[in-house]
Amino acid sequence: MVIAGATSGIGRATARAFADRGDRLVLAARAAQTLAEVRAECADADVLTVPTDVTEPGALDALADAAIDRFGRVDVWVHTAAVMAYGRFDELPERVFDQVVRTDLLAAAGAVRVALRHFRATGAGTLILTGSVLGHITAPYMSAYVASKWGLQGLARTVQQELRDSPKIRLCLVNPGSVDTPVYQQAANYLGRIGRPPPPVAGARRVARAIVDCANRPRREVSVGRLNVVLRAGFTMLPGVYDVLVGPLMRLAGLSGRSVAANDGSVFAPNPAGEAVRGGHLPDLRQLVSGPAGVVGAALRRRLS
Ligand SMILES: NC(=O)c1ccc[n+]([C@@H]2O[C@H](COP(=O)([O-])OP(=O)(O)OC[C@H]3O[C@@H](n4cnc5c(N)ncnc54)[C@H](OP(=O)(O)O)[C@@H]3O)[C@@H](O)[C@H]2O)c1
Repeated sequence: MVIAGATSGIGRATARAFADRGDRLVLAARAAQTLAEVRAECADADVLTVPTDVTEPGALDALADAAIDRFGRVDVWVHTAAVMAYGRFDELPERVFDQVVRTDLLAAAGAVRVALRHFRATGAGTLILTGSVLGHITAPYMSAYVASKWGLQGLARTVQQELRDSPKIRLCLVNPGSVDTPVYQQAANYLGRIGRPPPPVAGARRVARAIVDCANRPRREVSVGRLNVVLRAGFTMLPGVYDVLVGPLMRLAGLSGRSVAANDGSVFAPNPAGEAVRGGHLPDLRQLVSGPAGVVGAALRRRLS
């Protein structure tokens, strides 16, 4: 299993989930020291870490080569590497917009290219991309991310159609809604207010489970998020109403009250200090599970994670 974006959030939770099954893992992201931490978290699995910037020319080919050198083949490639940027389109520096698209769309396209080349040679394989509900709807102040996710949606559906003659090669698109990961705090920010996931928020482990399910039983598209269907229906069927509501709702629920000076976040370089599975937007119920209210805590944690 290759996981690009394994040092944080959904990718890190996915690495742990595959490790629990005893899979052999190739973990990639830019932050070498965080990759070493994730390898330690996956101690029961055979793990190769490959520090990789997916936007660098040739980096994805080198990642595939390293995986094949070590394990002989790649069965599943999971691509979760992504960055985010907040700001009105005309106030977001062009270099930031371009790097978000380079990371979230063009590098994902590069992963499709490299994985398909390998899967065609071996005759089988599963590629799992992480899109977003924002590949079906739009929200203000997130133009680079939204444009990338719409592009990824179109790319994934096109390649799925082209793969109809190769039934053993599968491309899955996992589309989460709001997930409790650090991506919001790690985002570049030219808006002045730190972003946050609007409710309802799912845990990263829930998305990781959807990814593992796709590895077991590939599916064209999987939506993870209780409001995704409602949001898509509102965007499509009532665009005027949607446009009136989305700005105020974004400011109310999608942005925190905390102000921040203009910064590039982790768009151009990793910020290892901010990397974790959780983003701190959901209560950590692990303590409850280990305390006297263990049974209640376990039930709550299953619902929220
Ligand atoms: N969190 C949500 O609410 C949410 C909702 C919908 C969709 N998604 C999607 O889910 C996926 C995972 O997001 P997340 O929330 O888990 O984000 P995250 O916690 O910020 O993790 C992003 C990962 O991507 C890696 N990455 C970023 N730029 C990279 C680069 N140039 N080269 C290699 N690796 C890079 C990061 O590691 P380094 O910085 O160390 O490189 C990190 O491991 C993304 O596709 C995101 O769009 C998330």
